[in-house]
Amino acid sequence: MVFTVDIPELQCNLANWFRREGRSLPWRDTVSPYLVAVSEIMLQQTRVPAVIPYFLRWAEKFPSVQDLAEASEEEVLALWQGLGYYSRARNLHRFAREVCRRFGGQVPSGEGDLLALPGVGDYTAAAVRAFAFDLPAPVIDGNIARVLARLFDCHLPVDSAAGKKFLSDAAMKLQEGEISSRLWNSALMDLGATVCIPGEPACGRCPVREFCKAKHPSTLPKKKAKAEITRISEARGLCFLNGKIWLEKSAGPRWKGLWILPEIEEPPGCEPVVCLEYPITRYKVTMRVFDSLPAPSSEAHDAEAFQNLPMPSPHRRAIALWMSSATKK
Ligand code: ADE
Repeated sequence: MVFTVDIPELQCNLANWFRREGRSLPWRDTVSPYLVAVSEIMLQQTRVPAVIPYFLRWAEKFPSVQDLAEASEEEVLALWQGLGYYSRARNLHRFAREVCRRFGGQVPSGEGDLLALPGVGDYTAAAVRAFAFDLPAPVIDGNIARVLARLFDCHLPVDSAAGKKFLSDAAMKLQEGEISSRLWNSALMDLGATVCIPGEPACGRCPVREFCKAKHPSTLPKKKAKAEITRISEARGLCFLNGKIWLEKSAGPRWKGLWILPEIEEPPGCEPVVCLEYPITRYKVTMRVFDSLPAPSSEAHDAEAFQNLPMPSPHRRAIALWMSSATKK
């Protein structure tokens, strides 16, 4: 693919716009490769406004990779609580331990070394190389994919092998020359987040519209057909006795190490005391919670203190709903 565009001029327009309009985000105030990795892993399945308070608390509690490596899994999961996708927290913990063990506490800058660390895939490796080490790297998150697909009027599905190759080539091509990779990738991301937004973009405000080849930008990027959402249902037992609540430690894989309401056989002919829905990957789960005796493997926790246990949000929400309905009765 030949990218026919005046790259220095494009870079200059976008960089000037970014200096004026770029977002101020806490992970942009650091070049600590460890904190950059933390922010990128948090941002993988979570939106920027939700990540900000978690990132700030994390940087306060575990300011260095050594601090995180020395923490217990309980502490790590407790701080991650509410962000969801807890395997990210467990991987980040293993990442810190590996960085200490294999690299003397210095996050490496080489692509191969980064990719061999737990929880680091192509995107995170590229983001750490660009944002922490200021090295050219194909940082392609959803925002950048959309901007690049539109700039070059690319109709390949961005989640196909051919689409990914196109985006990666385009991303590298556009970073050629003197431009700082940190600045360039931050600017592209912000353009995607604030101007070249999903659906109808604000082309009237776009600093690089004269370079954009998209004929119908709102139809881009293209994606492969989505897997259908499957509905499933689960029954959970809630036993509350003498100010104590019975919970079991999940053996995983998704919620490994977190405290959850025990799964039970749905009792025939009973109405649930709480019913809620939550999405998880390609499932929509209906959780039906029944008053029940404690499951044999579960443990008692003070109802006052359970707030401090690491728990997945749907389970915490089920207990809160049950408590508020119990106090109304
Ligand atoms: N989304 C993913 N990484 C990001 C970053 N570094 N800044 C803003 N949004 C992001």
